[in-house]
Amino acid sequence: MRKKIVAGNWKMNNSFNRGIELATEINKLVRKQDEHNVTVILSPPYIHLAEIARIIDKDVVSVAAQNCAAEPKGAFTGEVSAKMIKSTGAQYIIIGHSERRQYYCEDNPVLKQKVLRALENSLTPIFCIGELLSERESGNHFKVVKSQLEEALFDLPANAFGKIVVAYEPVWAIGTGVTASSAQAQEMHAFIRLTIADKYGKEMADSISILYGGSCKPSNAKELFANPDVDGGLIGGAALQADDFFAIINSF
Ligand code: 13P
Repeated sequence: MRKKIVAGNWKMNNSFNRGIELATEINKLVRKQDEHNVTVILSPPYIHLAEIARIIDKDVVSVAAQNCAAEPKGAFTGEVSAKMIKSTGAQYIIIGHSERRQYYCEDNPVLKQKVLRALENSLTPIFCIGELLSERESGNHFKVVKSQLEEALFDLPANAFGKIVVAYEPVWAIGTGVTASSAQAQEMHAFIRLTIADKYGKEMADSISILYGGSCKPSNAKELFANPDVDGGLIGGAALQADDFFAIINSF
């Protein structure tokens, strides 16, 4: 069966010391569990990556970068390559977060390059898709999500596509306190899986983990994760406190 995943996207939060402290707290809580049937991922800012990868127990906690450069290397001041990320011990990269799309003008062709850089370096892309409120209100949410998949991912050969984790994050639910209802999440996740099945076949679609993100917290995670097509969460605000994040991990 496909992996259940809870990933914490810290965004631009936490000093270096606080980041190490938070990772240590989460690692300790997860370590103590008897069963480890959920893949737990921490996605701190770049500067924390190497140290967090060093201090965590890699058999129970993994590390993700929040972005990477579209180019493999060279004169790109301020950028960080997928190869550098790999060298820190990270295993995943979040690609295509709506904040990157919105504030840094990252479009599907650029994101497609980033996905290739991640895969070339044996890093798993957590690829984010999701519609704006205006797109949902105008009834275009399925169309938008489908085109994000098609334009950024559907040129991949099946063996490469099979390595992707998809995160559905409706932009109107991110950081707003407004969560998609459990039914809205399931409806879109089922649509995403069907769209993948149309392109790569049902077996592939059934093997891809699809995470939900957007105001997911301890109080609603259980209901969201109970849906058959919701395989976990990409958590923002609630990932900044160890107890809240751990409660979400335990919502399965
Ligand atoms: P919030 O959980 O703060 O809404 O953020 C979700 C998110 O963007 C995770 O990538």
